[in-house]
Amino acid sequence: MTWHVNLLTLFPEMFPGSLGQSLSGRALEKGAWSYKALNIRDFATDNHKTVDDTPFGGGAGMVMRADIIEKALLSLPKQGKKIYMSPRGKPLTQKKVIELTQQDTLTILCGRYEGVDQRLLEAHDFEEVSIGDYVLSGGEPAALIMMDACIRLLDGVMGNAHTPDEESFSNGLLEYPHYTKPDPWVDAQGQAHSVPEILKSGHHKNIAQWRLEQSEALTQKRRPDLLKK
Ligand code: ADE
Repeated sequence: MTWHVNLLTLFPEMFPGSLGQSLSGRALEKGAWSYKALNIRDFATDNHKTVDDTPFGGGAGMVMRADIIEKALLSLPKQGKKIYMSPRGKPLTQKKVIELTQQDTLTILCGRYEGVDQRLLEAHDFEEVSIGDYVLSGGEPAALIMMDACIRLLDGVMGNAHTPDEESFSNGLLEYPHYTKPDPWVDAQGQAHSVPEILKSGHHKNIAQWRLEQSEALTQKRRPDLLKK
């Protein structure tokens, strides 16, 4: 099954962007996912191709019009789950990412300016999603990040390299540290750094236990909030 994403944007040329490269780019070529980026401006009705207007109540900036966005939305053969990228949305988590990969179609609205008319979001049941507590210039880079997190989880995209049980967040913890050859590694100052002995012991049970302890300690130190849930 192909995971399909419709994007409603004023900058369709921003897609697939970085998702056309590397793992997600190969997955796109293989048909694991597909996308369609619609230019909201193509649905404007006046000669100036206006998509926004001044806010009721006054204030700075412009607001994207409900009627124009709705026209773009209704032109889609299938809308699926509708998401509006917004810093005031629910924070994106790995749990949410997994949930989104279980939908066959998403429609992602990317806003610019001050935002979009609230009535459009309510009338068409958009869920607002934020990628973090900072403000981007528009929803497009946020959509690319959310899609990247989803695409790597799609069937066949990561193959054997995919170890979902061990990566950060999948067990509620941050991932343990990794090491590879050479061992020791001598840095440019002549300082030698060796790999923890336990990882070279061949005792799989002890190694698993050590990794779990490392994960727990790292989570306690950096993200104690994750342990409280
Ligand atoms: N648009 C602007 N900032 C954003 C954010 N932090 N998350 C999602 N969409 C956004």
